[in-house]
Amino acid sequence: MAKRTKIKQLLAMEPVGQQVLVQGWVRTFRNNQFIALNDGSTIQNLQVVVDFETMDDEQLRRITTGAAIGARGTIVASQGRGQTIEMKADTVEIYGEADPETFPLQPKKHSMEFLREIAHLRFKTSTFGAVFRVRHALAFAIHKFFNDRGFVYMHTPIITASDAEGAGEMFRVTTLPPQNPPVTEEGKVDYKQDFFERETNLTVSGQLEAELGALAFGEVYTFGPTFRAENSNTSRHLAEFWMIEPEVAFADLVDNMNLAEDMLKEVIRYVMDHCKEDLEFLDNRLAEEEKAKPQQERSELGLLEKLQFVVDNHFERLTYTEAIDILRNSNPNKKKKFKYLIEGWGADLQSEHERYLVEKHFKKPVILTDYPKQIKAFYMRLNEDNNTVRAMDILFPGIGEIVGGSQREERLDVLTARMAEMHIPEEELYWYLDIRRFGSCPHAGFGLGFERLVQFVTGMSNIRDVIAFPRTPGNASF
Ligand code: 4AD
Ligand code: MG
Repeated sequence: MAKRTKIKQLLAMEPVGQQVLVQGWVRTFRNNQFIALNDGSTIQNLQVVVDFETMDDEQLRRITTGAAIGARGTIVASQGRGQTIEMKADTVEIYGEADPETFPLQPKKHSMEFLREIAHLRFKTSTFGAVFRVRHALAFAIHKFFNDRGFVYMHTPIITASDAEGAGEMFRVTTLPPQNPPVTEEGKVDYKQDFFERETNLTVSGQLEAELGALAFGEVYTFGPTFRAENSNTSRHLAEFWMIEPEVAFADLVDNMNLAEDMLKEVIRYVMDHCKEDLEFLDNRLAEEEKAKPQQERSELGLLEKLQFVVDNHFERLTYTEAIDILRNSNPNKKKKFKYLIEGWGADLQSEHERYLVEKHFKKPVILTDYPKQIKAFYMRLNEDNNTVRAMDILFPGIGEIVGGSQREERLDVLTARMAEMHIPEEELYWYLDIRRFGSCPHAGFGLGFERLVQFVTGMSNIRDVIAFPRTPGNASF
């Protein structure tokens, strides 16, 4: 095929009568004359002007919303409003029609719920075009951030036999028949006859393997899919999501917090610089959505203002214990407005508490540290008080927890004692313990939920709208 010029490229040029071929999909066709053509390279459409007098009626009828076409012609300065350049088309070729009777994406407002039902087509809308270009840029910025600092990108396994978080929220992986699986003499399913000759599941985190890498390479990160069978039907939970997990040797919790804060700011800055038009579109979209809300629920800052604010301000750092004091004395707690009242130390924080701290109390991102050991995973480094661990969670406005991490327990005896307390069998994690036997050192890392970051940056209110094909309880379509 002849080489197409991308619309993004064209829109950056001066119109000097270039002869080009553009190929894309029709967004609208007005007055048998003006095609708004989108080719996915940018949120902007190119106006393609056709001369209906020289085109036959049959062909004109086939130019409908959604049709794939190629147009050859000349780029000229536009007379009309809304664009600086346009194409005067000499020929239009139609590659694929889109029957207006059955093509669901007509030029009108569609609800997010409806678009989720047709997720296989929703990339073709302006909103999802913008969201997924930003998602791409964020992924690239993350790789760039770590690559620039000499981190090694590690691919950790998707199928594992361990539960890294110890939360038991795993999807089983098996080739045994669901009906009548082989059983042992005791009448239990005989996993010896399964593909891996043991029980396996989809990974909930690549952290444990990343630690192995960090204690050889010094600095590694993972960026891969993770799976959680938690039955949370919320706007922030997915059963399949992507996580970025850096792990750094010779680092403590403060180094870890600094790395996370630097990374978040740098990748947000990157998309602000490289995705201006998409972010402006999303900023307007969010402003429209906010108008429909009651005054007190509206966010004080627009999307772009919010991003700028995060980039410009230090994240507030405080301990879990300090946060509990603030929450206990807060108005919603005293007036019993929280669904889960904060009675005392030890309570797990719910998203209402996280949001109070971030949105009402500090009005900026917050890093909470040193949580009670009871509510955190086995691998976190125990503090001198024997009660709290070197954990950190980063909380963002509108999102709640966006990052969870910790300094790791590098002392073999303390770690095995913790595992025994939590009934985690040592044999299964012998390899994880070996890293404490042979050249152990202080190290730390964290996990960033990629979709939560994309949600924050795009201002989309539901996490299902920032991943192409969301997996949630009761839904695995496409
Ligand atoms: O806090 P989590 O469970 O931490 C870990 O998995 C550690 N192994 C990370 C580490 O230290 N290497 O998860 C990390 C982040 C959360 O802060 C959240 O942003 C995201 O992953 N996350 C989810 N995102 C979408 N849907 C879910 N169900 C999520 N669960 C966690
Ligand atoms: Mg967490």
